Amino acid sequence: MEIGRILEALFTENQFMAAMIVDDRGRIVSISETYLNVLNLCREEVIGRPAKEITPHTRVMTVLESGKAIVGYNWRINDYNMIASTIPIIQEGKVVGAFAYSVFMDIWNAQDTIENLLTELNMYKDEVDNLYKAKYNFEDILGKNEVFKKVKNFAHQVAQHTITTVLLCGESGTGKELFAQAIHNQSSRSRFPFLRINCATIPENLLEAELFGYEEGAFTGAKKGGKPGKFELASGGTIFLDEIGEMSTTMQSKLLVALQEQEIERLGGSHPIRVNVRVIAATNRNLEDMIESGAFREDLYYRLNVVRLDIPPLRKRSGDIPLLCHHIMTRLNCRLATGIKEITSSALEMLGSYSWPGNIRELENVLERAMILADMEKTEILDARHFMFIKKRLDLNRASHEKQSLKTAVREFERDLIDKAMQDADYDRVKAAELLEIDLSTLYRKLKKWDFPA
Ligand SMILES: Nc1ncnc2c1ncn2[C@@H]1O[C@H](COP(=O)(O)OP(=O)(O)O)[C@@H](O)[C@H]1O
Ligand SMILES: [Mg+2]
Repeated sequence: MEIGRILEALFTENQFMAAMIVDDRGRIVSISETYLNVLNLCREEVIGRPAKEITPHTRVMTVLESGKAIVGYNWRINDYNMIASTIPIIQEGKVVGAFAYSVFMDIWNAQDTIENLLTELNMYKDEVDNLYKAKYNFEDILGKNEVFKKVKNFAHQVAQHTITTVLLCGESGTGKELFAQAIHNQSSRSRFPFLRINCATIPENLLEAELFGYEEGAFTGAKKGGKPGKFELASGGTIFLDEIGEMSTTMQSKLLVALQEQEIERLGGSHPIRVNVRVIAATNRNLEDMIESGAFREDLYYRLNVVRLDIPPLRKRSGDIPLLCHHIMTRLNCRLATGIKEITSSALEMLGSYSWPGNIRELENVLERAMILADMEKTEILDARHFMFIKKRLDLNRASHEKQSLKTAVREFERDLIDKAMQDADYDRVKAAELLEIDLSTLYRKLKKWDFPA
């Protein structure tokens, strides 16, 4: 009998054992038929994906990190009750993967119950970890565009100043949250929580309690013993106030007091609590306009605006599109279990001429759709035809231009040309003026008119 056949019988076809093998990063490289049945998934859905994504409380990451086996724990999944073990695969002294297997056991006793509860507890611990931790680092923020790199470098420097408030401005999908997480992770606060609060999605009457907490009996329905707010929970860490422009002016005042005093008071509370939290706020609104109309408090604006980062929209850094595409494609290949390898230059050109109102988030969605289309066609190359739905948006853009007055249309055209020349000249104004065959002073005037980033 040959060894391959034996392994096949023991591993892949064995009905009494569910098993899988992961690589050094915890991605599933091989899985038995039995385990697929238990998971109720097909092979294509799991191969290449992180085991943690399929079963969040898997032990493989622990085993890969420690290099030590975990033997005989209870493993309950989709109503299957099993005893499982995970052992490291070691080659030349290095952990290169792990082998996890389980044997079916349908005993039900106290030991089991405890084990089950522990497994469940681990799952919740996982979830809490995710809630309180920032995932992204500066290495995850991609972009070679000069303006973008400047913003990124500045953010990197700012990270060290751990009490400085940061205001992130940029259209939706430009990466504000990514920056907030990277700043947190880069700072000495990274060992402490990172908490995000979206001021637009939390109802106004709950926001105060969410941020500052409440004491027992503060209002009907208040929990016994009260509840700490995000400022207390984030102690030592960072609070990310997303969509700060949507906060009511009343809450803005309360936030300002908290920032100035570095103290908060729980709702219904009678004494102030000191807090040590860095605030990073983000908005896609023009706060200056909002101040003008009375919707945003000027004093809070100045308090938040100590350090301000303006993240450029994707259409102003279209040179980064190829880089972003490749990165996103790799990630999506993993998630969608597709094998798209390339994107043609004509497709990239088309993406480069689109205006991306939804920025990188929109680029991710557009790529996902195109990759699914290509996958159905069984091709490994993304071409312009997979982006036809974008072409419609492009044409619509042009059509809406046609309805503008000649003056606006000319202005926009001029602006696009200058934008492009600036990018081609790597933001060197002398070179850009040469490309455009205009005086440097004319270029300066026009750039100023449009508030072009320096
Ligand atoms: N520079 C970048 N490099 C890689 N991915 C990015 C970048 N900027 C944004 N993304 C991705 O785009 C999506 C939207 O980013 P996010 O930070 O949520 O934007 P915002 O908070 O500005 O709406 C996320 O999936 C993020 O990972
Ligand atoms: Mg966001």
